[in-house]
Amino acid sequence: MTNQPHNLEAQLLELQQTGEEAIASTDSLERLEELRVKYLGKKGELGALLRNMGRLSAEERPKIGAIANTVKEALQASLDRQKVALESAKIQAQLEAETLDVTMPGIFRPQGRIHPINGIIDRALDIFVGLGYTVAAGPEMETDYYNFEALNTPPDHPARDMQDTFYLPDGNLLRTHTSSVQIRFMETEEPPIRIVAPGRVYRRDTVDATHAAVFHQIELLAVDEGLTFTDLKGTIKEFLQQMFGDLPIRFRASYFPFTEPSAEVDLQWNGRWLEVMGCGMVDPNVLKAVGYDPEIYTGFAAGFGVERFAMVLHQLDDIRRVYASDLRFLRQF
Ligand code: DAH
Repeated sequence: MTNQPHNLEAQLLELQQTGEEAIASTDSLERLEELRVKYLGKKGELGALLRNMGRLSAEERPKIGAIANTVKEALQASLDRQKVALESAKIQAQLEAETLDVTMPGIFRPQGRIHPINGIIDRALDIFVGLGYTVAAGPEMETDYYNFEALNTPPDHPARDMQDTFYLPDGNLLRTHTSSVQIRFMETEEPPIRIVAPGRVYRRDTVDATHAAVFHQIELLAVDEGLTFTDLKGTIKEFLQQMFGDLPIRFRASYFPFTEPSAEVDLQWNGRWLEVMGCGMVDPNVLKAVGYDPEIYTGFAAGFGVERFAMVLHQLDDIRRVYASDLRFLRQF
């Protein structure tokens, strides 16, 4: 390389031209960066040429310096331009690659359904929540105390025979009804109380078309000052009407250890009276067991079997089908 000024000028201009051509024809951002380093980097070609400037005369130096500046600016400008072009081309390609053809047929996704038992529970809870009740729950493994004793059913009570119980080796039992939730809730809360408690219950009944060893109940409990049997009747009537429609119902005197008086509720369905739930005014002994003063508070309670409701509402003839997990059956709901 010589130090002739016009020679250096020619070299600079040539560098600009080849540089601009190379930059304009790059097709990737990585390659573009390589070119930036090649021409404008610390050890780049422009810098290499300028290192010869020291040998120029004092008049020539600013002239060549000015040319070097325009070359540098021109190369930087084409690098910038090409960078913008490559970036937008990249986005464009990505957009095209990700285009959705909304006319393509979709992928069939099988849809689950609410199980008929859960469906009934959901409906019943909705109704009671609408009446101002709160949903409560208790354990399925219970002590004798919560399942029987606190519910005014001591060990020698004949009512224990009404429910054939699964006892566990440790003396606990599988709850035979959701009434145990009444005690657990009242133990920790003060009146006024309005709860609805759904859950699984267990009985050693003979299993047949209408009895299962495991089934579901929904329990109702209200305790407040001044509650009467009329409140109980009104609540049950409102619930059954929302559940089954406006059908005839009747209250029949009955017996449960934890309510006094007690009643069973029948519903006229397809010309027949069906027993659908048990209920009554909470026995003062039950209120005493949880530390409530029966002189101040009264309450009403009710309990019913969900499977029973499902059989009526869905006209099922055999409850065992509900648990058989046969999709042909379950898909009907
Ligand atoms: N626990 C009773 C049963 O399983 C149903 C029942 C009857 C619940 C009367 C109640 C009630 O709360 O007041 O057969």
